[in-house]
Amino acid sequence: MSVVPGTDSVANPDSRWAYARRIRSTVNRPTHWHLAPADAASGVAGSDEHAGPIANGAEPASWTRLRPRTLRTSLQIVLRQGNTFFTDAAEHGDVLRYQFPGGPDSVAVLCNPAHIASVMTADPAIAPSATAQSPLRPIVGPSSVLTTVGQTHRRQRALLMPQFHGKAVAAYRESIDRATATRIASWPVGQEIRLAELAQQLTLDVIMAAVFGMRDGLPTTEAEHTLRRLTLRLLRLSTHPVATVAQLANSFSENPVGITKLMVRPFDAAISALLAERRAEGDTVDRTDILAVLLSTRTDDDLPLPDNEIRDQLVTLVLAGHETTANTVAWTFERLTRTPDVYRDARDAARADDADYIEALLNESMRSRPVVPIVARELLQPWQFGTNRVDAGTVALISILLLHHRDDLYPRPFAFDPERFLGVRPAPHTLMPFGGGNRRCLGASLAMAELRIVVTEILRRVDLAPSDRPSERPRHRNVTMIPNDGGLVRATMIR
Ligand code: HEM
Repeated sequence: MSVVPGTDSVANPDSRWAYARRIRSTVNRPTHWHLAPADAASGVAGSDEHAGPIANGAEPASWTRLRPRTLRTSLQIVLRQGNTFFTDAAEHGDVLRYQFPGGPDSVAVLCNPAHIASVMTADPAIAPSATAQSPLRPIVGPSSVLTTVGQTHRRQRALLMPQFHGKAVAAYRESIDRATATRIASWPVGQEIRLAELAQQLTLDVIMAAVFGMRDGLPTTEAEHTLRRLTLRLLRLSTHPVATVAQLANSFSENPVGITKLMVRPFDAAISALLAERRAEGDTVDRTDILAVLLSTRTDDDLPLPDNEIRDQLVTLVLAGHETTANTVAWTFERLTRTPDVYRDARDAARADDADYIEALLNESMRSRPVVPIVARELLQPWQFGTNRVDAGTVALISILLLHHRDDLYPRPFAFDPERFLGVRPAPHTLMPFGGGNRRCLGASLAMAELRIVVTEILRRVDLAPSDRPSERPRHRNVTMIPNDGGLVRATMIR
């Protein structure tokens, strides 16, 4: 739909434009978005939906670049993205434009489903992923499915996709069940624990089983032991506050530098040792894990995949598959313990095997606290977003966080209310915790299988005390948005 600004509100008082103006004038959101009361409006709503690539040479519309272009304001966005974006979107509408020092010359932040659809459904040749500029690139490497584009990316996805779908995910289910039972059994009653840490051990077990074929995630050979130990160390170091500084240092470099280099080097050596061990094993062991698939793959020239590509995929899957899922579990219970009525409903639903409610709960959790709050695409052609045009070379940052809090899509966007998803199939490009288009999360089915089992089992077997503390502050680490205290909860009973 294309709307001409200024003409619709008279003819149709309920149009999105009129709605946006009405909502913006009633916003009562505090400075920290995560502390907004349940009945506050976000002020993010409606605008002209017309969007798509336009011919080169089209006259760009005039724009206000938001915020002075200083390192301080850039840091503010890196560290407190939500506060800046919510404030700017309520004031300036749902297409925001920034320029970061040392970053791309032009950045457009999008949160309108029609604008997002125009980018996600475009030919990837004109709107490729911008992950080549991701802070994760120095760690995951240039041959990772996360950082490649074009033909190489298509080939890599085609190879990996079957490992994350249908039968393959069903096969992981048993190992998820066992890992969940073991971890819940070790949960201390009466003490506070950080749910993210507990869930991380669990998701690490699952990913180690899927990627390296370690039964229940537990290593048996020496190379496997070393790899698991170094993986834990890499993950622990990457959660240290210093990692944020390392992230900034690395954003200007192709290869890992400083502390990141120190973290990555021993990990790489452990992967090389494991590759050597698996090759020496030959066909003597029947393996179906992802590493086995990578080792048996031949290129178009009938050559084995190069070691650096295998290494990049392994690191990517371990990192991508671990933090995101664990912190989604943590956010789910951070929200539930602060909304006791919803917690009661969720517990009853889990104990009554109400799979529809659990699905709605997971949707609501990932809507209100998306662990990946932003995904990026590079626009290689000029683009129209409503009345705004951007030049070729603009980086489109799709703000999943803003999209999920639009007043016109999700009334009372700050309320935690799974019922909004009961019996509802979200329209395309309105609920996007796993991103979209040709880069949609490769592990989405595995992540959903893990979340269903883990969240249901915790609801069934553990009673959690409600929390009267303020909502946990979102902390931005690498590309993720995680609960600052790790989802602090206290179990009052475990059955
Ligand atoms: C709740 C858990 C998870 C969330 C919220 C999540 C979210 C995301 C998002 C937003 C993207 C970027 C999509 C885009 O650019 O449009 C992504 C990419 C990716 N994710 Fe996940 N993810 C999760 C779990 C996993 C798991 C379990 C794995 C695998 C083991 C995984 C592997 C990947 C990979 C390989 C990519 C890159 C795909 C590509 O660029 O083609 N993720 N994920």
